[in-house]
Amino acid sequence: MGNVVQLRSGGVGLLIAVDGSAQPEIRYWGTDLGELSAGAASAAALGVLGGIPHAVPDQLPSRGLVPGPADGYRGRPGLSGFRRGSSIAPLFTLTSLDHAAADGDVPARLDVVCDDVLAGLRVHSELLLDRHGTLRIRHTVINTGEDDFEVSGLAVVLPVPPVAQEIADFTGKWSGERAEQRLPVNQGAWTRENRRGRTAADAAYVTMVGTPGFRHRDGRVWAAHLAWSGDGVTWVEAQPDGTRAIGAAELLEPGEITLAPGEGYATPWVYAVCSVDGTDGISRRFHRTIRDRDSHPSAPRPVVLNTWEAVYFNHDLDTLGRLAEVAADLGVERFVLDDGWFGGRRDDTTSLGDWVESADMWPDGLGPLVHRVRGLGMQFGLWVEPEMINLDSDLYRAHPDWLLADPRRLPGPSRHQYVLDVARPEVSAHLFDQLDRLVKAHRIDFLKWDHNRDPIVPVHAGRGGVHEQTLAVYALLDRLRAANPGLEIESCASGGARVDLGILARTDRVWVSDCNDALERQSIQQGTRLLLPLELMGCHVGPPTSHTTSRTHDLSFRAATALFGHFGIEWDIASATEDDRAGLAAVIALYKRVRSLLHSGDLVTVDHPDPAALVHGVVATDRSLALFCYVQRTMSRFESPLPATIPGLDPNRTYLVERLAPTGGPHLRERAPAPWVRAEPFRSTGAALGAVGLAVPILEPEQALLLEFTAVD
Ligand code: DGJ
Repeated sequence: MGNVVQLRSGGVGLLIAVDGSAQPEIRYWGTDLGELSAGAASAAALGVLGGIPHAVPDQLPSRGLVPGPADGYRGRPGLSGFRRGSSIAPLFTLTSLDHAAADGDVPARLDVVCDDVLAGLRVHSELLLDRHGTLRIRHTVINTGEDDFEVSGLAVVLPVPPVAQEIADFTGKWSGERAEQRLPVNQGAWTRENRRGRTAADAAYVTMVGTPGFRHRDGRVWAAHLAWSGDGVTWVEAQPDGTRAIGAAELLEPGEITLAPGEGYATPWVYAVCSVDGTDGISRRFHRTIRDRDSHPSAPRPVVLNTWEAVYFNHDLDTLGRLAEVAADLGVERFVLDDGWFGGRRDDTTSLGDWVESADMWPDGLGPLVHRVRGLGMQFGLWVEPEMINLDSDLYRAHPDWLLADPRRLPGPSRHQYVLDVARPEVSAHLFDQLDRLVKAHRIDFLKWDHNRDPIVPVHAGRGGVHEQTLAVYALLDRLRAANPGLEIESCASGGARVDLGILARTDRVWVSDCNDALERQSIQQGTRLLLPLELMGCHVGPPTSHTTSRTHDLSFRAATALFGHFGIEWDIASATEDDRAGLAAVIALYKRVRSLLHSGDLVTVDHPDPAALVHGVVATDRSLALFCYVQRTMSRFESPLPATIPGLDPNRTYLVERLAPTGGPHLRERAPAPWVRAEPFRSTGAALGAVGLAVPILEPEQALLLEFTAVD
């Protein structure tokens, strides 16, 4: 065979076979194999191929970078589309290949251009393997023919080895986002399609495939995430010959992308990582790569007070001013005024689109509140939902034709609202002007950018509109940020429905879920942090009795849950008890002390043998410090708790182990304390803590124990 290009960086390697004029093919993606001689690389790349079975073409199928039926590939094709009146299965040949090895922080890179002269198509493939071993890959198809080419689909397809036999991805719902689901790899394709017009609560999120039973800390795993906020599809597909692949693509409506001669269409970036140490290894790579982005928030994540569950639509200056005073007193750093401040908005039936202060609620505008908030030393944030419109709004009365819909067949309302066609230049110009005016007028530090309905048959310029809408929203966000340096934006969508690395390229955090019930949040946050580092995850302490589930939880459990994120409060603290306020002040002080660790360290999740317990934490990258949380989800079936092992520490160092009281005092309902908990903090080694673990008290359900580990040698 011809050449084998090796891409190596961050402990990961790819072998890409370049055989004559054929489209290059990824033969291996996994742990770095070291620098191989040409012969060894060739042998390794050949090692994954089997013999030619009966009843198939006389040559081995190839899985080129953009595989298709013309080169014998029998899976879902990488590219599909047609020209008016004719179709052709593309067969690409290599035109150019440009390869650069990793150099310090500069990723290893492979740029491949392939052509199919007969089909009039060119594909440009870009692969970047960064210093953390994260592969970013996308393809661009260019129409080199003489008439229009309609793209039906263009996918990133990555091979995984036959040892990958179990799939895990996510599903969910409002207030129950990112719930993991598992199934075995069988022959055929497991596909997850999102056709809801934006990333959804039930999106696949991260598609993983790994060795049977892979867990948090063991098993080989391969994972991919589509960095896109519109419709998408991801899949795991296994062939009769045992080969298998992960695929990811934007989902396109017929006629949505038509390329005139010379035009191109690029897939979203796909982030792909692999791990030999379970899903924590997957998170480590994702998190480190995300933290390396130029746009990643670098200032300490401020403590937030969000007004939603405190006052809902009942806005008045005195109430909000009092809330701000109590918040500032407790140490809150950012005050966010949620829905209800604009137009005639007294409930959710009206005024979306009218982004001007409500004259009767705010006769002097937002100025007096903003002034008060700033006077108390806090930043000011504001809720908006720019992509939406109510039929009862001045905007709709002026521009009834601005809806993202077929005017002949409007979809039904959802939360009484409709979607604006942001891809129309006059619509995005209008939104930019309104938002820019607001941000500048009040020097707004933060926008909570909501999106509360699925578009449902979104039509732009007479055809499927999700692609254009998504790009237009990205452009609007980019323009607003460029015009207002320092402005931070949160991606919210009925809670955590728009959580992806496409929107996060131009926003600073996501609202993880509308469910502030700490027990539910433990699972929702666990799913979310697989991809996202904690500093991007909005996590708030809600009121004692949850507004979404009516469960009541102690402040300590709510606090220990919200600590593992970008911490905030969403509760009418002006009417909270003195004890609760004192507890909140203590939690806020603790968050400020530990946020630099939580927002820079590595995630550790324990494979605890008792399903009643969840043990997770963050270990500093130099392993000098760690914070863990032992969560008693339900009653255990064991008489006393099984020891909690604490992996991820430096086995050769000694740690001081301290139990923290997040709300300032003794707080847990313990049936029987663990022996050491009665005594002073104790010392142990990373090796002993990782292998033997430590004893925990018998806790009643829905309690959490916080443990801090400080290296002392
Ligand atoms: C949905 C969000 O998820 C909530 O946090 C809140 O902002 C409401 N919308 C306001 O309408």
